[in-house]
Amino acid sequence: MTKVISFISRKGGTGKTTNAINLATSLHQLKKKVLLVETDTNYTISSIRKIELFKLKKKKDPYFKIIGSRDNRAATEITGLKKSGDYDYIIVDSAGKTTDKGIRELCLESDMVLITTSLTQNDLLVAFQTVKDLRPAEKLNANLKICILPNRIHSLTRFTTVMTQLAQLDSEIIQTYVPQRKTYTTPSTVKADRRYKNVAKQIIKQLG
Ligand SMILES: Nc1ncnc2c1ncn2[C@@H]1O[C@H](COP(=O)(O)OP(=O)(O)OP(=O)(O)O)[C@@H](O)[C@H]1O
Ligand SMILES: [Mg+2]
Repeated sequence: MTKVISFISRKGGTGKTTNAINLATSLHQLKKKVLLVETDTNYTISSIRKIELFKLKKKKDPYFKIIGSRDNRAATEITGLKKSGDYDYIIVDSAGKTTDKGIRELCLESDMVLITTSLTQNDLLVAFQTVKDLRPAEKLNANLKICILPNRIHSLTRFTTVMTQLAQLDSEIIQTYVPQRKTYTTPSTVKADRRYKNVAKQIIKQLG
């Protein structure tokens, strides 16, 4: 059965796109059937793919599919895509604010919502508010898991320190973290980052 994992946050720049790409490429490398849906109307991910195919001189696209959508119609489109049974995982990189109707509908179609956050005070406040905004969706969608994905963490930070800082968010936390790394500033849609594989595996484990 298709599982839908959506990246949602109340504020921009928390790492949704970076992690959506890395998760998709890692799952693709793990031989899963993946679809990546981007609702940001700049269609950043599709552009990255086009540039990568051009650089690799590939006329055909042999990698996982990336489609563009909008926050206000993503949920409806995903309902149809789920029925097709063509994918193991549909990953959604959303652009909307948590209070949008489209985002609320997206939560109802999702099996997991990932809220990316660093440990800065501002990001923690945004994550806290995002969790609060999305909580009501759990009452309407019994399958939904809302999880925090710690992102941009200094690579020497102990995981227990990360957990202590995130405890105040009162939410399930992915049991690993994504470090702050230069390679993540230019993510690839065709080649998985070897070190992200464990993050992807942990996310799938918690998705159940
Ligand atoms: N783990 C990381 N290590 C290093 N840089 C990161 C990491 N995660 C995100 N960044 C950087 O932080 C910036 C914001 O990340 P990203 O574009 O993924 O956020 P976003 O939530 O998708 O933002 P928006 O809501 O504006 O689309 C980017 O410049 C990205 O390269
Ligand atoms: Mg983005």
